[in-house]
Amino acid sequence: MQHIRIEDAAGYVGEEVEIRGWVYNKRSSGKVRFLIIRDGTGFMQSVAAAGDMAQDGFELTDSVTQESSVIAHGTVRADSRAPGGHELLLTGLKLVALAEEYPLALKEHGTDFLMDHRHLWLRTPRQHAIMRVRSEVIRAIRDWLDDNGFILIDTPILTPAACEGTTTLFETTYFEEKAYLAQSGQLYNEADIGAFGRVYCFGPTFRAEKSKTRRHLTEFWMVEPEAAFCDFEENMVIQENLVSFIVSRVLERRTAELETIGRDIEPLKRVKPPFARVTYDEAIDIINKQGAGPVSWGDDFGAPHETAVARAFDKPVFVMKYPAAIKAFYMKPDAARPEVVLGSDLLAPEGYGEIIGGGERIDEKELLIRRIREHNLPMEAFKWYIDLRRYGAVPHSGFGLGIERSVAWICNLEHVRETIPFPRLLNRMYP
Ligand code: 4AD
Ligand code: MG
Repeated sequence: MQHIRIEDAAGYVGEEVEIRGWVYNKRSSGKVRFLIIRDGTGFMQSVAAAGDMAQDGFELTDSVTQESSVIAHGTVRADSRAPGGHELLLTGLKLVALAEEYPLALKEHGTDFLMDHRHLWLRTPRQHAIMRVRSEVIRAIRDWLDDNGFILIDTPILTPAACEGTTTLFETTYFEEKAYLAQSGQLYNEADIGAFGRVYCFGPTFRAEKSKTRRHLTEFWMVEPEAAFCDFEENMVIQENLVSFIVSRVLERRTAELETIGRDIEPLKRVKPPFARVTYDEAIDIINKQGAGPVSWGDDFGAPHETAVARAFDKPVFVMKYPAAIKAFYMKPDAARPEVVLGSDLLAPEGYGEIIGGGERIDEKELLIRRIREHNLPMEAFKWYIDLRRYGAVPHSGFGLGIERSVAWICNLEHVRETIPFPRLLNRMYP
């Protein structure tokens, strides 16, 4: 008998097939038993009537427990009322392993309890749907970059120095030396563009964030494209095209999951280039006019400020040209106004705030050395990075897009903790 995946059931209507999975839920009504079986690709109701299947199989529908693993045989039937649009008329059921009493009963649980049982929580429909959207987001990113001239070049996790400020470094020992977990692959990307032109790295990123907010993780995934001969303006065009592609791909391939999550897709349909661009100065006006301030020139924006700016637009918006003093050491000053940098943050709508940070990099050696000094960074560790300005420097730009914040926005979630399989937070490293 042919083993199929539940998500492919539509192609097997009327055929007898095998499903391998777990019992998500069961109920009975008279002589009929209903088991919802999930196999990782979807959830499917299977129906058993006494007489339609062997006696031992039918008895098993009564004794089988929630989350037991099973192999089911049956005929696929189209039924618009069934979740997923198909059900299985059982002809046989075999037990693989009987599950013990399941801690995640099918009722409401508190967040802490669910987080403690994240290894099991992932099996439920909503979490399952979120992870499938995450996977599609990652795939869309890779497809777009691969098709637009970027090559994947991995960057190291163990690094000798900071990239995004020394306050959020995770320190570890590297034999006799100190090492830090990577906060960003950007500096290595800047070396890689000298060899490959346009590159991206895509990996886990670590920040010892002492912030307990709905958008901070200590371990998160970031994709970081970097391009040679690319200025600040072109960098934003790349970002708006990439983000629009991600959203359109999710709308195309993951509508069922968005529906499971309860995501209103209308706002997502508006995510098409071009996105609005406002300067930091204009953003300050918007924040103060909306009563979300007061903020004054030189202040960094917090979540409520970003929300206020984003609210003024109905799709993502770039905030550009922040004061140099509140941005990273590598950002290139605006020639016309050196107190601001050619950097931008992309703010997602609906209150999600910054999902991308990026900009043009300093390509001039002396200025870079000065900035490293001003930021009290260890010159020795940056020797190779300064070298890049000695051997064929070019104008170049790049950005980092946070996967979890993007998924939280696309799925319209309360907190980033549901966007990553096993979240690492200020007060959580289990499971
Ligand atoms: O703005 P950030 O710090 O930029 C950089 O790291 C640059 N070096 C990237 C580059 O230009 N190559 O981080 C980029 C993005 C943020 O916009 C956010 O989406 C995400 O990474 N991010 C976090 N996501 C979850 N938890 C955290 N603690 C995050 N910190 C940053
Ligand atoms: Mg940032």
